[in-house]
Amino acid sequence: MTTDIYAVMGHPVSHSKSPRIHGLFAEATNQKLEYTAIQAPLDGFEASVKAFFDRGGKGLNVTVPFKEQAWNLAQQHTLRAAKAGAVNTLYRDDAGQLVGDNTDGAGLVTDLVHIHKVTLAGRKVLVLGAGGAVRGVLGPLLAQQPQQLCIANRTLAKAQALAELFADEAGQTDISACGFDAVGGDGDGESDGSAGFDVIINGTSASLAGDLPPLNPSVIAPHTVAYDMMYGPEITPFNRWALEHGAAAAHDGLGMLVEQAAESFLVWRGVRPESTAVIEALRLG
Ligand code: ATR
Repeated sequence: MTTDIYAVMGHPVSHSKSPRIHGLFAEATNQKLEYTAIQAPLDGFEASVKAFFDRGGKGLNVTVPFKEQAWNLAQQHTLRAAKAGAVNTLYRDDAGQLVGDNTDGAGLVTDLVHIHKVTLAGRKVLVLGAGGAVRGVLGPLLAQQPQQLCIANRTLAKAQALAELFADEAGQTDISACGFDAVGGDGDGESDGSAGFDVIINGTSASLAGDLPPLNPSVIAPHTVAYDMMYGPEITPFNRWALEHGAAAAHDGLGMLVEQAAESFLVWRGVRPESTAVIEALRLG
């Protein structure tokens, strides 16, 4: 039996945990595969993808800064990738067409709903940021049918553009956009006695600079769950801030990373690996 080849492509990519995650998945599901990390030149993503598949590669994960380029390169898009405007999973279909998928949003929702047991349906959700990372998760978040989904961003126009882009997927959800200064209390400026958001998801890259979105602490209630899509060895500045202001819990994005990988594994191999043990292994270092 030949070994199927997969890889994550990014720049830089040597820090990526994906080879370890997929290695653990392969072991746990008895799948014979090899998964490596490939650093594509900043101006050579397309050529690197072509070379990978021409060598017989079966599937690629795509990470920073190539997710939008991967979207452009894909000849077919899954529904969730089409709206996300970014692709993190590539493979060739039976006709040889390059298919682009996006498993980031599914990864976030699985981690929140199934691992952390956080209900999104019928709840008030605040999403911070309006860049590519947030665009990638809005579809799966809306599919959970929260009562309200408010997108807050430093640059208001980008939040408004996203709220408009996803209006047709909102269904019964009240989707809105606002600047950080305008978001407080229950987010709608009306006093209906239900202060704070149920779930606040930080999708800004502020943590990378050790920074915090300038939020009014009144967005936090004693039952609020904070989720930072970033992760690191230390608690993220956003999660620390949320706990200091009384949030019930704060989770980082390590689980999202593992769950998006599990979803990619499912897309490629038809088997969904169990993720809890892998998340635990990564936490241990
Ligand atoms: P990504 O792919 O990580 O989403 P991006 O598309 O560059 O990267 O988006 C970064 C997001 O983080 C944006 O929402 C950005 O706000 P602006 O749209 O106003 O630029 C947000 N961001 C970055 N640094 C921030 C900071 N220090 N405080 C608040 N928001 C920040």
